[in-house]
This record gives sequence, structure tokens and C-alpha cells, in this order.
Amino acid sequence: MAKTACTIPDPTAGPAAGSARARLRAAAAAPIRGPLSRQAARPHGVPGRLLGRLWIRESAAVNDVAFELLDPTAGERILEIGFGPGRTLRRLADAGAGVDGVEVSTDMLCLAARRNADAVRRGTIRLHTGDGTRLPTPDDSVDAVVSVHTIYFWPDPRATAAEIARTLRPGGRLVLAFRDGAVPLPSRLDPSVYNTPSVETAATWLRDAGLTDVAEHRRADVCAPLVWLTATAT
Ligand SMILES: C[S@@+](CC[C@H](N)C(=O)[O-])C[C@H]1O[C@@H](n2cnc3c(N)ncnc32)[C@H](O)[C@@H]1O
Repeated sequence: MAKTACTIPDPTAGPAAGSARARLRAAAAAPIRGPLSRQAARPHGVPGRLLGRLWIRESAAVNDVAFELLDPTAGERILEIGFGPGRTLRRLADAGAGVDGVEVSTDMLCLAARRNADAVRRGTIRLHTGDGTRLPTPDDSVDAVVSVHTIYFWPDPRATAAEIARTLRPGGRLVLAFRDGAVPLPSRLDPSVYNTPSVETAATWLRDAGLTDVAEHRRADVCAPLVWLTATAT
């Protein structure tokens, strides 16, 4: 049978679980997976800033799909949770949206502010520190919320889902992109740091918060076990 060629490879793909190569790879990754995963959750210092710069390219494809599903239009107010180096903040501002970003890492906030200095100076992009349990935007004020590869690190996902529902205007959209928790994590990621929810669990958090039309999107051209969930506020 012909194989589907993936144009977007999985940067975390490894050998088949259980194989000798997989065991070797897991052993080699063991000493660094804790520190590396903690840096991904809250980048800090030189290693964190390096990781942030790596993400600009490494997570471009998943962010581009999220952007496409969000479909921003000029004049909208959009909130991004966990913007990292701020590539998507820039794309949203370039589309004519007013953008708020929330980050737990002050190093990422500084990096994103430097990389988007003009838009930050103009007030088109406003950056805030926070962990998503309280969002900085008023009730019913935001047209869309986007978050890519951050749900694993939310201290209280139900609280963040409720905050998203609070701040979205009726009819506002959400796009969440994450690794599917039904697929085992690669050995370089620490499961005590990466709490990857299943699609069903994440969808339940969103529905329980009052969001509707929760839909799952997959991309055949992306090899990584990624899912994009979209939802609408009532
Ligand atoms: C794996 S990176 C992804 C960055 C960016 N979204 C991307 O796709 O390139 C995770 C980011 O989420 C941030 N983060 C982690 N927990 C967060 C939270 N509870 N609230 C806001 N940001 C958070 C981290 O500081 C980090 O910048």
C-alpha cells in the first residue's frame, strides 16, 4: 500500500516503542527530559530563550493551522495564551487584529516584546503575565482565543476554560492545538510535566465551561499526533 507522504514531519518522532533503538533513545533522553520539559513549561535563562527561538520554526506549522482555523479579520480583538516567542502574535496583528497575549514566562514576554516592538509600541499588541487561571481581558470582550502547545501546563484547565468562556463574546471562537494524550509521549518529554489530555477530556472541559460546537480537526499532512479543537462561545 502506498504511504502518505507527510510534508510536516513530527519533530518528536522516534523509533517504534519497545524496539532496542527506542529503549536506547529513552535511556539517552532520561537525564535531560525533566529539565527540557520544565523549560518548555516555563522557559527561563539562556536555555529557555534558546528554546523559545527554536520554537519559531519548530512550531510554525501547528501555529499556521491554528491561525487558519481561527480565520482572524481586521478589527477583531484576539487573545493568545502562552505565546512563547510571539510569532502568532505578529501574524494576528498583521491581519489587523488587536491582540492581547498572556504568558507565564517573563523571558518569553521579553522575547516576544522585542520581536514585536513596533506593534507593542503602537498598542496593537498588549502583553500580560499570567497563568491563565485569570485572564486579563473583560467579560464578553474578545472575538477569539488561540493557544498552541500550552494546555499541558495549565495549572487548572477547568478554570482556564471557564475564563475563556467568560472573556469571549457570544459567538466568539476558540482554537486549541495540542498533542493528543491518547498517543504515548516521546521519551524526551517528561509525563510529570506534560499533562497531555485526551481529546475527549479537553472537549469535556470546554463543554462544561459552556462552550459549544466543539469540533476536532486533524491534518493528514502533519505526522505528529496533533489535534486542533475549535469551539464557540454562547
Ligand atoms: C511549548 S511552548 C509553546 C509556545 C507557542 N505557543 C508556540 O506554539 O510556539 C509553551 C509556552 O506556554 C507558556 N505557558 C506555560 N504554561 C502557561 C500558562 N499556564 N499560562 C500561560 N502561558 C503558559 C510557556 O511559558 C511557553 O512559552
